[in-house]
Amino acid sequence: MHSRIAGTGGYLPAQVLTNADLAQRIDTDDEWVRTRTGIRQRHIAAPAEQTSDLALVAAQRALAAAGIASDEVDLIIVATTTPDMVFPSTACILQDKLGVKNGPAFDVQAVCCGFVYALSIADRMVASGGARNALVVGAEIYSRIIDWNDRGTCVLFGDGAGAVVLVPSERPGILSAHLHADGSYRNILSVPGTVANGAVSGRPLLTMDGHTVFKFAVKVLAETAHEALAATGMAADAIDWVIPHQANIRIMEATMKKLGLPLERMVSTVGEHANTSAASIPLALDVAVRDGRIRPGQHVMLLGVGGGFTWGSVLLRWI
Ligand code: UT7
Repeated sequence: MHSRIAGTGGYLPAQVLTNADLAQRIDTDDEWVRTRTGIRQRHIAAPAEQTSDLALVAAQRALAAAGIASDEVDLIIVATTTPDMVFPSTACILQDKLGVKNGPAFDVQAVCCGFVYALSIADRMVASGGARNALVVGAEIYSRIIDWNDRGTCVLFGDGAGAVVLVPSERPGILSAHLHADGSYRNILSVPGTVANGAVSGRPLLTMDGHTVFKFAVKVLAETAHEALAATGMAADAIDWVIPHQANIRIMEATMKKLGLPLERMVSTVGEHANTSAASIPLALDVAVRDGRIRPGQHVMLLGVGGGFTWGSVLLRWI
């Protein structure tokens, strides 16, 4: 038994914050942000919106696309670094908001690689018969863990959610999944704060060594793509679409160059969504499925990298 994606969904909060809007608050400008990152705008969650609210809309859209009712869902995995609260998990809150009670629900915390981790776990559970209708979501509200006075980081991130429904399949939809981590790089991208003794301890805002992250990302995204190709015996040219983590257009383009693939085969939403961390890959997947770019029989390579450091790939055939 194998698994395949039966439907995708996405949700972006209504408020759009452009580079020009940011330039009114901090010392930056549209040209710098566009040329260094490819980002033109980002979406920002409303004060009353929680990560589970974003996840709920994306999940409902994915379920509708798959033709599966909420009460048929028997596994929920939410990849997030910005959960509603310390506990319970955002997945349990989402389960309640969906009005269902079947099966396990848990969060995966692998930062921007979280969706790739979650999809890989769900694939193994569905393919082994442990679940029949798995909801896999990436959902984030990074606007609440960003230092809005740090121009080196605040221009990069946005809020959003993407979801897929994974179902059993006799033909393989998910062809390979490879996951990695190296905790010795934990300090180059972190939110070094926590809650202790009734107060926030440490600095609960994103800090980053941008240059080191950039170089590391380009290196491991290409490596894990080659790993997937070697494991499946496929040539790079057989990949119809690459969906890398949407962090910076220069990282994404450098990865395509290393793979020897034309930029036309890359799905890019970083200009409109910015970096939505664990939501970036499922959001981009949803856009490319809904606009008809991804078609049955095509091969799609998902490439994730994030704080931890974590990285990995999922190679799939769209069926
Ligand atoms: O999910 C993973 C998350 N993180 C990433 O993907 C980040 C990876 N890193 C990057 O994307 C890039 O390193 C950045 C976009 C963060 C920075 O780009 P860069 O080309 O490496 O720029 P830089 O850090 O070398 O900065 C160049 C200049 C500096 O000024 P000086 O020292 O040359 O005078 C910065 O102070 O640009 C300045 N700068 C800005 N200027 C206008 C930094 N941020 C801004 C800004 N607007 N927002």
